[in-house]
Amino acid sequence: MFITIEGCEGSGKTSAIKELTKLLKKNHHKFILTREPGGPRISEDIRQIILDKRNTMMDKRTEALLYAASRRQHLVETVWPKLKEGYIVICDRYLDSSLAYQGGARNIGIDNVLKMNMFATEGTFPDLTFLLDIDPKIGLARINKNKQREVNRLDLESLNFHNRVRKSFLLLAKRYPKRFVVIDAKKSTELVCKEIYSTIKKRLKK
Ligand code: TYD
Repeated sequence: MFITIEGCEGSGKTSAIKELTKLLKKNHHKFILTREPGGPRISEDIRQIILDKRNTMMDKRTEALLYAASRRQHLVETVWPKLKEGYIVICDRYLDSSLAYQGGARNIGIDNVLKMNMFATEGTFPDLTFLLDIDPKIGLARINKNKQREVNRLDLESLNFHNRVRKSFLLLAKRYPKRFVVIDAKKSTELVCKEIYSTIKKRLKK
């Protein structure tokens, strides 16, 4: 099973994933937690270029292509081999982030970005996608409180940008109702994590 976790900045993805990892370990599931770039050096190098605060002149299609390139390398080196070995693969952000950020918020168009990503991923969609949904105003306030977290180029975008990201994520959830589970991320990490875990368990039984 290939599971992805998506959400706007400050949606509590990282904390929820940490808790989820503990639960999965406790219950002896065979899983790996990863994120793009998630290990491969090539993907890491690409990510450095994308998130570098100096790269303010980066064209939006260049950005979308770089995310797709990093995604592919991560699939080839990490996701596909692990799925083949029977692991549950949990990925912190994947395709839907590109559709929401580059397709929706940057206005390239969700379908244009999807087309490009079909080439990159050869049509590998997640089986299950959790969207941690939160009003970006609340999310960004959460981030600003957490001074340890490094601010990247996408964090520096306006509130308006992040509102478009959220709207796009919600649109995707409507478009793909079978794989999307929308979770109210205002809830405590514990509750969010419980909801994620119980859905995973149900799906594993199917
Ligand atoms: P990251 O440090 O991983 O942030 P987070 O903790 O929010 O996941 O930074 C990734 C940033 O890149 C984040 O702002 C979302 C953005 N992004 C895209 O715009 N498109 C993508 O395809 C992906 C994977 C991420």
